[in-house]
Amino acid sequence: MTSSIKLHADQKVRADADDAAFTVHLRKAGTSVVFARDIFGLPAVVHWGAELSDADLPGLLATSQPAVMNSSIDIPRTFSIAAGRTFGWSGTPTLKAHDDDVQLEGFTLVDADSDGAEARFAVRDAGETVEAVFTYRLDVGAILHASIEIENLSPRWVDVDAVRALMPLPARASELMDFTGRWTHERHPQRSEVRDGTWIRSSRRGRPGHDSSFLTLVGTPGFSFRVGEVWAAHIAWSGNQETLVERLPEGAGVHRTVLGAGELLDAGEVGLAPHDTYRSPTVMFAWSDTGIDGITARFHTSIRSRPQHPRSPRPLLLNTWEAVYFDHDLDTLTNLADISAEVGVERFVLDDGWFHGRRSDTAGLGDWHVDKTVWPDGLRPLSDRVHALGMQFGLWFEPEMVNPDSDLAREHPEWILRELPILESRHQHVLDFSREEVVTFIVDRLDDIIAAAGVDFVKWDHNRDLHAALGGRGSRQVHSHTHGVYRAFEEIRRRHPHLEIESCASGGARADLGILQFTDRVWASDCNDPVERQQIQRWTQTLLPPELIGAHVGPAESHTTHRHADFSFRAVTALFGHAGLEWDLRGASAEELTAITAWTTLYRELRGLLHAGTTVRGDAVDSGTLLHGIVSPDRSEAVFAWVRTETSTTAHSPRVQIPGLDSARSYRVRVREEVGRASRHQIADPAWLDDSSELTLTGAVLAQGLPLPVLNPGQALLLHFTSDTEA
Ligand code: GLA
Repeated sequence: MTSSIKLHADQKVRADADDAAFTVHLRKAGTSVVFARDIFGLPAVVHWGAELSDADLPGLLATSQPAVMNSSIDIPRTFSIAAGRTFGWSGTPTLKAHDDDVQLEGFTLVDADSDGAEARFAVRDAGETVEAVFTYRLDVGAILHASIEIENLSPRWVDVDAVRALMPLPARASELMDFTGRWTHERHPQRSEVRDGTWIRSSRRGRPGHDSSFLTLVGTPGFSFRVGEVWAAHIAWSGNQETLVERLPEGAGVHRTVLGAGELLDAGEVGLAPHDTYRSPTVMFAWSDTGIDGITARFHTSIRSRPQHPRSPRPLLLNTWEAVYFDHDLDTLTNLADISAEVGVERFVLDDGWFHGRRSDTAGLGDWHVDKTVWPDGLRPLSDRVHALGMQFGLWFEPEMVNPDSDLAREHPEWILRELPILESRHQHVLDFSREEVVTFIVDRLDDIIAAAGVDFVKWDHNRDLHAALGGRGSRQVHSHTHGVYRAFEEIRRRHPHLEIESCASGGARADLGILQFTDRVWASDCNDPVERQQIQRWTQTLLPPELIGAHVGPAESHTTHRHADFSFRAVTALFGHAGLEWDLRGASAEELTAITAWTTLYRELRGLLHAGTTVRGDAVDSGTLLHGIVSPDRSEAVFAWVRTETSTTAHSPRVQIPGLDSARSYRVRVREEVGRASRHQIADPAWLDDSSELTLTGAVLAQGLPLPVLNPGQALLLHFTSDTEA
């Protein structure tokens, strides 16, 4: 429920008309965001957090100013949406732009309106050189979408240096968590106390990167999956970016800390000619008083409400990369496709190696023609076979990239994104997608192949950082390139409305809600080792629902870590995502093929629940163990994985709380062992497990916890809870 703006009668306010106070109250699903004019007449966030009633607002406004401090400006401090030094804000400004003479500052409000769901505020600098329009919308999941558009009103050139959506946080938000990582180890959480100063996470990689900050969370001390008040931000952008958490000794008005993000712009990168505009990426903010799981639930609700969100059952796929690498031939791949269909695969994806000159990763990128030496009759024979077997056909591309050893690079060296010096990475360069002719050329090539080979799914890869040098003032290099990439996705989707696309970037280096406007899943990581994968998926899932996260079962020995893992552990791990296989099944034993078939059957049984339910994760379980699950929206069913990744010092099996169930319901508890029995590090199971087929427990008892078996390291137990009782 949202309440509408209290502005003037005509729902508009002119800042210069009078200084009437106004309040905008955006309110949805337990969250309120309240804006009011500050002492300078600018809109400021006076509250972001728990839902308030309109009756609360007078009191909130009456208490929205701090004391006037010693050795400080002589008025109460404030933090408005256009905070900057001219208003006594000595922290990072929200807007930074200049013309040839001056920094543009001293913003005043010129327009404001709201329909109760969205608020728009227009401000101009003192010289009326630019107008910046801030838009805030609270969606169905109570995610606040914030974006800013700047227009050059002057006859002069204006450079935009930074545009950030910043939100204030209360003093109790004092612990910070975000992510870092590297290839095969994405989404590694890091935590620290919030201190005075600025915690900036930047990507100058032309993509978010393996070390992307991904989701920045600031919460009450010790916030965990289930406990604590948490404020979070994600930037829906696939180019250069920065997120920040900043605390000044003097705070931010009555708030303490600031959280936000923006595109990271090079000096002069975004220059605005007269009447030109710049629109910032959307920054998404979420608040929860039920820990990280509460933030996750809000993002998942929001993401699942998007019109383009994939709603059909997520097909189980087999990807050929780790099965055959560049070793393509029709017989091998037909054989693999036949076995795939037999074990229950629904989508067969031909990875890298099918196009002209691509016999290794040193050549061919850019030459998007089927390699006739390897595929003399094109891809149709394979694609037709795959379709005849009842599977979809998928194909790998890396559209933004070009190998110097390619016909494209030889013909169009001017299409390569300018670098000084030229740095090859995986023997490749980046095409400049800010050039329309490049976008058109690549889109046409993909279009051609997709139509000719009957492609249902594209794995769209991006295997290097950009080290682009700026092409001159206003060249909008990485900014325009990123928009060019988005246009390419959009055009391919327009031409092939039923095509699905995966965003891959050497694994999970481009897994953001910008790219997910045009894609249907992300490849979370090139690592299929379940020990690593448990963590990668757990943390990727803080933002993205499992149906958008590619998760594959590989062979017993992981190709990237060389660790060995039991099939049951690999299978349970990959179940909690958009599942697939990445395995040369031609070498799998009959026993393994039977186990894989049992797994694909189980995936088909459970995916309706897994891809629509609420993600929950247990807190304070023994070190070396993880408990995570998915609970159906009506809480009548849930699947949980009890996982041990390593040994620990705990020598008993205390009750482990099963979170997220309905305490009033009774649940039948079953251990699902279709994919194998998890091996134990104990003499005997807890007694309840002996006759588990009969066991029914109330949600209230399960909330107190179940003693679970002590597993050996590298094992996972799958628990299935079903309830016939009404809540
Ligand atoms: C990247 C991807 C892999 C695979 C290879 C192919 O590394 O992350 O999954 O597609 O490229 O070259």
